[in-house]
Amino acid sequence: MYLVSSPVEEENNLVMKVAVIGAGVSGLTAIKCCIDEGLEPICFERTDDIGGLWRYSDKVTEGQACVMKSTITNTSKEMMCFSDFPMPAEYPMYMHNSYVQKYLHLYAEKFSLREYIQFETEILRVMKKDDFEQTGQWVIQLKDKKTDKVKENIFDAVLVCTGRNSEKYVPNFPGLSNFKGEVVHSHDYRKPTGYEGKRVLVIGIGNTGSEIAVELSAIASQVFLSTGRGTWVFSRITDYGMPIDMTSLKRIMMKLKKILPQSLIENLVEKKANARFDHTTYCLRPKHRVFAHSPTINDEIPNRLALGTLRVKTGVRTFTENGLIFDDNTVEENIDVVVLATGYTFKFPFLDKSVTEVRENHVDELYKYIFPPKLEKSTLGIIGCAHVFGPSMPVLEMQCRLSTLVFQGKVNLPCCHDMMLDIKSKQEVLKEKYVKLHKHTVTVEYIEYMDELATLNGCRPDFGSLFWSDPKLALNCYFGPCTPYQYRLHGPGKWDGARKAILTQWERTLGPLKTRPLGFIEQPSQKNILLFSFVFVVTICYLLQALFF
Ligand SMILES: *[C@@H]1O[C@H](CO)[C@@H](O)[C@H](O)[C@H]1NC(C)=O
Repeated sequence: MYLVSSPVEEENNLVMKVAVIGAGVSGLTAIKCCIDEGLEPICFERTDDIGGLWRYSDKVTEGQACVMKSTITNTSKEMMCFSDFPMPAEYPMYMHNSYVQKYLHLYAEKFSLREYIQFETEILRVMKKDDFEQTGQWVIQLKDKKTDKVKENIFDAVLVCTGRNSEKYVPNFPGLSNFKGEVVHSHDYRKPTGYEGKRVLVIGIGNTGSEIAVELSAIASQVFLSTGRGTWVFSRITDYGMPIDMTSLKRIMMKLKKILPQSLIENLVEKKANARFDHTTYCLRPKHRVFAHSPTINDEIPNRLALGTLRVKTGVRTFTENGLIFDDNTVEENIDVVVLATGYTFKFPFLDKSVTEVRENHVDELYKYIFPPKLEKSTLGIIGCAHVFGPSMPVLEMQCRLSTLVFQGKVNLPCCHDMMLDIKSKQEVLKEKYVKLHKHTVTVEYIEYMDELATLNGCRPDFGSLFWSDPKLALNCYFGPCTPYQYRLHGPGKWDGARKAILTQWERTLGPLKTRPLGFIEQPSQKNILLFSFVFVVTICYLLQALFF
């Protein structure tokens, strides 16, 4: 329907046409952001439905990311939702992937996103138009998968929303080709059926590897989890059963992290992790400090290790025909299945070389991890490349919000030279801060990165005025979890429901637990007042300190 637009129409059409590639989380919010900004989005989706990796399927195709049957979110509902669309109150604190999929359908329905999507359409090439230097326009070659027809279309801007979890990454393990057992990449692992009674080796202790190892340890005869580097493990819920991201992703925490010595903070956080189970005793302790790499979020690992159904091992030295030798020279034989939870790399095969020099996984060559710096016109954004310490959905949304403003010229990016300087300085910081691993060339801190983008597009919360105009809200924003609604309080894309959403976020988080009325226990209103006074006093001290010292 949108494919062929007559030349006459095109001339009259002053609205920018934006091609959105992919209808997963990023693609959906990209469409919404375009509509909000008065742009005309046209989204191309390879499959026949929305949802991207959240759309569970028993069969996965190459190059198509997909959760496994049991995947549960590792960020809590209020942290991971879109900033102007809270999750339904009845959804649990952490959700099975089917809830996320339902949520995405609700989002698409509420904002009528579907009418902008062309399903079963594959993007073959994205090229600069001949007069790109003047117009910033793109020629997109696409294939209708139902008819196999190939067409070319012209767009004023492009948002690449294909994600970074589709191309399997497999390091070179010596001898793996000699191994006679079954080898599966976690990408193709769907559910535990078929693994009953087997001896399984899982390689990689990221979120996925740990989930698979734990899941299989309930039914396999023995599961080994191989990791060269080890990891810090945190549970989804922490003290008093509160979600860990809501208790740690706070502005006050970020401030403390900045003003207190780094090593002190690291010691405290590591102490906390070890209080749950000692990482040395359980042989998971990594060499790196706790912030040098994304921790693993897993509720079960220590329990399964304690039960012995799961055993942690070092990295792999070499595979043999029926087993393997580990780095510490121990040998395990009769391994039936090896699961490679070794992660993903990303590529943009359809992007012309002249568009971006982004090599595999090296998105640190993008300005703010979105914009290729060397384009004559900033009319292309790559969404979702940065790896975030925290929820990713709000970040994807923020990247789209910024991109649409950049496309329209409402936000101007610096010149190429300055962008390159910014990129170089960021690379230096990253190198120092994080363990160098192929898949973590870019890791960003949630609040910092959100604030950085929000500063550019003018929706960063302004605490200076907020403390005076609405102290209750300001306290909630500063000392409470940094939920995405904070970026809808003012500026472009302001949402009137943001304040209420912030003040009710804990109700939506803890409400689903209230399934058994405890009539005899007093409601903790007293405690709230105490807490509020305490927070108030701390704030006053803080303000005084800020004013006078
Ligand atoms: C959640 O899991 C995904 C997939 O493994 C990972 O990319 C992300 O960093 C994790 N998030 C957190 C907060 O650990």
